[in-house]
Amino acid sequence: MSNIQDQVVIITGASSGIGEATAKELASKGAKLVLAARREDRLETLQEEIQNHGGQAIYKVTDVTSNEQMEELAEFALQTFGKIDVLINNAGLMPNSFLYMKKIDDWNKMIDVNIKGVLYGIAAVLPSMRERKSGHIINISSVAGHFVGAGSAIYAGTKFAVRAISEGLRKEEFGNNIRSTIISPGMVKSELTESITVKEFKQAVDQMYEGAIESESIARAIAFAIEQPSDVAINEMIIRPTNQER
Ligand SMILES: NC(=O)c1ccc[n+]([C@@H]2O[C@H](COP(=O)([O-])OP(=O)(O)OC[C@H]3O[C@@H](n4cnc5c(N)ncnc54)[C@H](OP(=O)(O)O)[C@@H]3O)[C@@H](O)[C@H]2O)c1
Repeated sequence: MSNIQDQVVIITGASSGIGEATAKELASKGAKLVLAARREDRLETLQEEIQNHGGQAIYKVTDVTSNEQMEELAEFALQTFGKIDVLINNAGLMPNSFLYMKKIDDWNKMIDVNIKGVLYGIAAVLPSMRERKSGHIINISSVAGHFVGAGSAIYAGTKFAVRAISEGLRKEEFGNNIRSTIISPGMVKSELTESITVKEFKQAVDQMYEGAIESESIARAIAFAIEQPSDVAINEMIIRPTNQER
């Protein structure tokens, strides 16, 4: 039996890309999924697909930029399954642009979703994890959490922040038997580039992403981190396409 069997896993951003692939991977290994995102039709379809394959999943429409909605999501998981074993803070967006373009709406969205969303997620699950002295929080950073490129100053800033927050979380909570994992993907096929609002940027990034790997590659890495024995913490993984230089 897999270590993932019967683990209750909340996934934010489960409606597409890495989140969706991870939901399917973990469901196939027996996890009880709590799917969250804003697009209800996508969540409903995913739930049905998982259930049709014999898996267990519930969903709740959730905007990660709302602390209240994140608390309600954690409560929903606790009410339904009685515990939260894993939170995967995966929701994110990447509307890259140059600083001089002053895309303040895009900056704010990235800060709200990529940083505050992660913080609200952590805050929502920590009380029950601390009480049970058991839990695992997986935060999706990026290669952009290690290197900054022109045009990705804000996105990289949010992903550096995710790594800093994750390391702080690890230092604060290892004594409560709560594991912390940073997953830093390189280029992965998903809907991520749809969030780019500057046409020339989107074209250039889409071209670069022709070498991207499947979301399932990241899903397998996440499953690997979860299925370790509880005294083993995979603290960070970088997963790139083999042919990605930086
Ligand atoms: N693809 C890559 O190359 C790559 C590389 C490194 C890191 N990442 C990171 O991987 C994570 C997943 O991205 P992806 O590549 O799978 O892209 P994606 O297909 O665009 O998925 C993003 C997910 O985030 C959700 N989301 C966005 N804003 C949200 C909000 N306010 N509240 C709740 N959910 C929200 C979206 O769902 P709704 O729109 O339905 O809410 C969607 O499910 C992100 O954190 C991204 O930064 C991706």
